[in-house]
Amino acid sequence: MVKVITYGTFDLFHEGHYNILKRAKALGDYLIVGVTSEEYDLTRGKLNVVDSLVTRIENVKKTGFADKIIVEESQGQKFRDIKKYDVDIFTVGSDWIGVFDYLQDYCKVVYLDRTRDISSTMLRVKETSIQRIGIIGTGRIANRFVPEAVLVSGVNTRCVYNPHVESAKKFADKWGIDAYENIEDFFKASDIVYIASPHETHYSYIKQALAHGRHVLCEKPMCLNREQVEELFELARKKNVILFEGIKTAYCPGFAKLLGIACSGSIGSIRGVEACFTKLEDTNRRELTDIEYGGSFTELGSYCLLPIIKLFGQEYRAVRFESINDENGIDLYTKAHIQYKNGLATAVCGLGVKSEGRLLISGTEGYIIVEAPWWKTSYFEVHHENPDDIERFSDRFLGDGLRYEICDMLSMINGETTKDFKLTSGESKTMAGIMERFLAERDVRKT
Ligand code: CTP
Repeated sequence: MVKVITYGTFDLFHEGHYNILKRAKALGDYLIVGVTSEEYDLTRGKLNVVDSLVTRIENVKKTGFADKIIVEESQGQKFRDIKKYDVDIFTVGSDWIGVFDYLQDYCKVVYLDRTRDISSTMLRVKETSIQRIGIIGTGRIANRFVPEAVLVSGVNTRCVYNPHVESAKKFADKWGIDAYENIEDFFKASDIVYIASPHETHYSYIKQALAHGRHVLCEKPMCLNREQVEELFELARKKNVILFEGIKTAYCPGFAKLLGIACSGSIGSIRGVEACFTKLEDTNRRELTDIEYGGSFTELGSYCLLPIIKLFGQEYRAVRFESINDENGIDLYTKAHIQYKNGLATAVCGLGVKSEGRLLISGTEGYIIVEAPWWKTSYFEVHHENPDDIERFSDRFLGDGLRYEICDMLSMINGETTKDFKLTSGESKTMAGIMERFLAERDVRKT
């Protein structure tokens, strides 16, 4: 019996998929089809698969060509499957020519001609209208955002706005997009507004964008005042558009895995979360010159508050801050101590003080440690009383990681996900409330 194996995502099942399965089956007597898991697609950068794994498997099954369907979950699995199932022929479409030649040592490799003029990518573009992104702000993060957005199918960065027209023009030239001097024109040319301007401008820009019926993705911290965040989420609800706070960690797969493991009881009940993020920053930068809104806590606090609020919730009992400030009262090093009914948390931020920057989650049966850069979660360890008992977990964090939040936002816009579970509006409000208290106490100390 000649056994044949082939793999694919088989998203939005189309004629090309049908043809390849038919021809793959004709190569032998028994056909095994590997369908990629959602997680595997994410790790290899295929971010906008529309159909669920179950649907994709169902569609392959319906063709009647597959004798066996398996799930492809990781790199390197093809080799293992070939051995495991004693496969004679490995086949894929001609778009992969050469890529799988290394399997020739184990079985015959056949590249079948690809069906012309059809692909899942083409169908995805047709199915979902492209969302045009307009960017407000032209700083470092905006420059990182553009190449990340290119990797998410279904969005297209079209334009930029900055009241400093020259900066907008320079940015637009660099990325081949349009610069608008008039914000009304800018809103007309955008479906999603990405806000990456200085913190204190967020509120007004978000409000204007929502009022124009635009979806908004705003860099953290969304606002430094709880009431403002509440008002903005209410406005988004009324306008039936999506408002997202862009804390990239919240949307990356490794962080989701970390939360899952932490909450699964693997370290017992969680009693402590210590999150530290420090950066040595050029003293001329806005973060260290803006007397009102600069400083380490407004700049980095969102990252550190994220795991605390995700793990302990929004109902904290008390919060206390300690800071070392420069001569202008800008905090260079801040510790926020947050007390919960059954746990203690610390957020440590530094802009002129360097620390090891790790995330430590302590529980009644063990602890989880994530070394810097934990905010780009890709590897963590679970430890127990016995020092040899260590579990290691990893997940891929691709590029600058902004692609994950863009992808999640798009899923919500397209109605594929309806719940904002990765970073909820309530969590954004809680963070804004803590920032607000920090600034109020800092200002009292200053006077
Ligand atoms: N395939 C094909 N002809 C097409 C499209 C796909 O023969 N027009 C083959 C691929 O070569 C692969 C299998 O079908 O062997 C599964 O491909 P998959 O990546 O799932 O489909 P695509 O349409 O290529 O998806 P995408 O656009 O997301 O890359």
